[in-house]
Amino acid sequence: MPDGEMEELSRILRKIEPGLGETEAEVEDEEERQARARLELLMTLSNLPPVTRNTCRFSTWEGRKRALGVCRDFLEDPEHHFLTLAGGPGLGKTHLALAMAWEWIEGRRSQALYYQVESFLDELRCRYRRWQADYEGWENDPYGLLDFAKRVPFLVLDDLGAEKGTEWAVAKLDELVDHRYLNRLKTVFTTNLRLEDLPPRIADRISSGIVLVLSGKSRRPVKGEVIHEATTCKSDVETRYEASQ
Ligand SMILES: Nc1ncnc2c1ncn2[C@@H]1O[C@H](COP(=O)(O)OP(=O)(O)O)[C@@H](O)[C@H]1O
Ligand SMILES: [Mg+2]
Repeated sequence: MPDGEMEELSRILRKIEPGLGETEAEVEDEEERQARARLELLMTLSNLPPVTRNTCRFSTWEGRKRALGVCRDFLEDPEHHFLTLAGGPGLGKTHLALAMAWEWIEGRRSQALYYQVESFLDELRCRYRRWQADYEGWENDPYGLLDFAKRVPFLVLDDLGAEKGTEWAVAKLDELVDHRYLNRLKTVFTTNLRLEDLPPRIADRISSGIVLVLSGKSRRPVKGEVIHEATTCKSDVETRYEASQ
């Protein structure tokens, strides 16, 4: 068949059924495009800070090989569903939790969700208020977010214990953890607190899984600076930049 006729036939076939009449290379391009679009959607829905896709990875982790091994193994572990990274600030808990979430999304092409507990509860509270005030729309539905967090295959709840939740929000957090525990869904917690200082029901669920306690020196880089300006007259202002915690 002459080239011109072939192109015409291919054009007609595509009109009837997208995909029909495509060359092998075009099918591959389309598959690649769809895979990329799916990965982008997984990343957008994950709430993972985009910059950490490069910075907080297993590949950028230094030292503490045992901790790295525990986190790597946890992704494949069919037996354990809860992993808690505990220890003081700057020890790499958030780094490892984010690295696991990125690995889950990129390696498995499966959904992960990341939230600091405090902002998760804030978001729930905000939506709840708007929803009670009769604002419509999925973005104001607190149960939509809660449901997503309950069902997502991989959830990270960062900085557990730092939250100052209302009774309603704390009850929702409890409900979320309980749901994931009963349904054996992979969940990673990080906390600066000791287990005995966490809400008892959550501590109980957590201790059924793996608890990795990190210790040693903080690696948090001190990027801020403290500037003391000599105060010579009343209008002088002391400017203080604290290292961001
Ligand atoms: N072992 C490590 N290898 C590489 N970077 C690390 C390591 N531990 C901590 N960091 C880095 O130090 C900083 C603080 O770590 P972070 O994960 O926020 O600590 P935490 O959550 O325990 O307070 C981050 O920038 C993190 O990437
Ligand atoms: Mg942290």
